[in-house]
Amino acid sequence: MSQRGSPEGERLQPRHYLSIVQRRGWIVALAAIAAATSGFALSSRRAPTYVAQAKVFIGPGTDGAGDLASALNEITLSGEFLTSYAEAIKSRPLAGQVVSQEKLPFSPQALATRVSTVVVTNTRIIVVSVSDSDPERAQRTVNTLASDFVSSSAVEFGGKTGVLASVLEPALAPTSPVSPKPKRDAALLGFLGLFLGLGCAVLLEQIDDRILSRGDVELALGPLPILATIPEASGSRKRTLFFSENESSHVAESFRILRTNAQFFSVNEPLGRVLVTSPHGKDGKTTVAVNLAASLAASGLRTVLVEADLRRPCASTYFELPPAPGLSDVLVGRSELSEAIRATGVANLLLVPAGTVPPNPSELLGSKPMVSILDELAADGSVVVLDSPPALVVTDAAVLAAQTDEIVLVVRAGRTHRDGAREVKRLFERIGAPIVGVVINCARRGDAYGYPHRYYRYLRNDRARLPSEHESNGHVEPGTTSMPGKVPPLAPDHKGESVPPVAPALRAGPLARHRNR
Ligand SMILES: Nc1ncnc2c1ncn2[C@@H]1O[C@H](COP(=O)(O)OP(=O)(O)OP(=O)(O)O)[C@@H](O)[C@H]1O
Ligand SMILES: [Mg+2]
Repeated sequence: MSQRGSPEGERLQPRHYLSIVQRRGWIVALAAIAAATSGFALSSRRAPTYVAQAKVFIGPGTDGAGDLASALNEITLSGEFLTSYAEAIKSRPLAGQVVSQEKLPFSPQALATRVSTVVVTNTRIIVVSVSDSDPERAQRTVNTLASDFVSSSAVEFGGKTGVLASVLEPALAPTSPVSPKPKRDAALLGFLGLFLGLGCAVLLEQIDDRILSRGDVELALGPLPILATIPEASGSRKRTLFFSENESSHVAESFRILRTNAQFFSVNEPLGRVLVTSPHGKDGKTTVAVNLAASLAASGLRTVLVEADLRRPCASTYFELPPAPGLSDVLVGRSELSEAIRATGVANLLLVPAGTVPPNPSELLGSKPMVSILDELAADGSVVVLDSPPALVVTDAAVLAAQTDEIVLVVRAGRTHRDGAREVKRLFERIGAPIVGVVINCARRGDAYGYPHRYYRYLRNDRARLPSEHESNGHVEPGTTSMPGKVPPLAPDHKGESVPPVAPALRAGPLARHRNR
C-alpha cells in the first residue's frame, strides 16, 4: 500500500505495520475487546436451541421378502431416490401430521423450518434433525417424524406390502444446546474486531502523519541515518545544558551517541561546520546544537557554537551570557569578532551569540563577512556548530547551508510532520547541501522510539557501569543505517578533564586561549 503522494520512502513495509501496531496497539486491543465483550453479551442473552437427531435407513423393510425385497432394493439404491426421501421428510403434510399428533405449539410450516435432513455419504442412511428450545420436545418430535415417515413409505408390489424405510436409531434427548455458544461467539467477534482495529490504526496513521518513531523518519526521508534519539527531559531541566561528561542521565547519554554518530556519518574528517536545523519552530534546534557542541567539546575537540538564529536567539541563555555583542554586530561592523567570542565555562567550548536582533537576518547571514567569520572560526580545526532558524519558515537555514559542511535535521517526536521533514530534505537537496542525518528529539520512553528499555535499566545503575566512550563509539543505534564491516572511528580521546560548572566566565581573548590549548 502506498501512502499519500510521495516519491521517496513512502511504501509501507511490514516493519512499518509493526510500528503502527506498537504505537496504536491500544486501538487494535480496544476494538478486539469491545467486539469480544459485545459478542459474549449478545450471545449469552439468546434463548438456547437444542437439536435432537434420529437416523432413518432407506431400504426394504423386513416385511418385504423375495421378489418384493429385491425389487425395492433396486429402487432405493439410486441416489436420486435417497435425496427425494430426504426432502420428503421435510414436507409440510408430514410436519402437519406430527404437529397434531404431538400437539405442538407451532404451525406445520414452522415445524418444517426446524427440520433438516442429511444423507450420509455412500450410505442409505438419512440423519433427521429437529431443533427446539425444549430438548425433550425436540426428541419426541423427531422420533414421531421418523416413524410417521417410515409408515408413509409402505408400498404394495405384486400383491405384497413392504416398507421402503426403517428407523435405524431413534433420537435421545440432547443434553447441551447447539446455540448460543458465548465463548465461541466472543472469540469470533474478537477476531473480527482485531482486524477492524488494525484497519482503523492504519487509517489513523494515514490521516495523522506526525513523526513518532524511527519508522516514520524512514518513511518520510528514506534511508537517512538516525544520529540519535533524544528523550524528553523532565520539566525542571528545560533550557539548561543537558549534557555534561560526568552525567549519566538518558539525555546526556543520547548526546554522547549523537556526538559519536555525527562524527561517524560526517562527510568531513574531522567534523567541520555543522548546521543544526529543523522544519519548524520549537523542534529543539537550539537544544540539540548547544548540547552537541558541549559534547564535542567534552571529547577534547575545540568547538565554537555560533548562534546563527538572529531572529529568536536564546543559545546564550544556556550559558548565562549576554546575547550582545554577537554575530550580527560583527556582521554589520559594529564589533570585532574577538569581542563577540565568549568563553562558556565549558572546557573547549566557545560561543558566538547572535547579537543585536537585526532587521535583515537573511542578508547578513548570506553576506561575505559571514563567510570570513566562519572561515576564521574554523581556521584552527575547530568544529563550528551553527544553530539556525526553522528551515521551512525563513530562508536563513538554506542561506547558511551553502556555507556549512554537514546539516543535521532535528525532528520533534509527536510534532514534526512527515510532509514537513520531506520538504526540508528536498529544500537542501535542491541547493546541493544534503542532510547528513536526523535527530529525533523529545522522544518519550516506551513509544517505540528506538532506544531500548534495557538501556534505561543500564543507566539507572551506577555511573561506573556506563558504557565507556569507546563502547559508545561502537554503538550505532538500532534502526540507524548500519554499515556492515565498517567500524565507527573512535572519538578523540576524552582526557578525563572535569567539566567546570557552567558560569558566565567572561575572560579576555577566549579564542586565543582556545587555540593555544
Ligand atoms: N529533549 C528535550 N527535552 C525537554 N525539553 C526540550 C527538549 N528539547 C527541547 N526542549 C524544550 O523545548 C523548547 C524549544 O526548544 P528549542 O529552543 O531548542 O527549540 P528551537 O527549535 O531552537 O526553537 P526556535 O525555533 O524557537 O529557535 C525549549 O523550552 C526547550 O527547553
Ligand atoms: Mg532555537
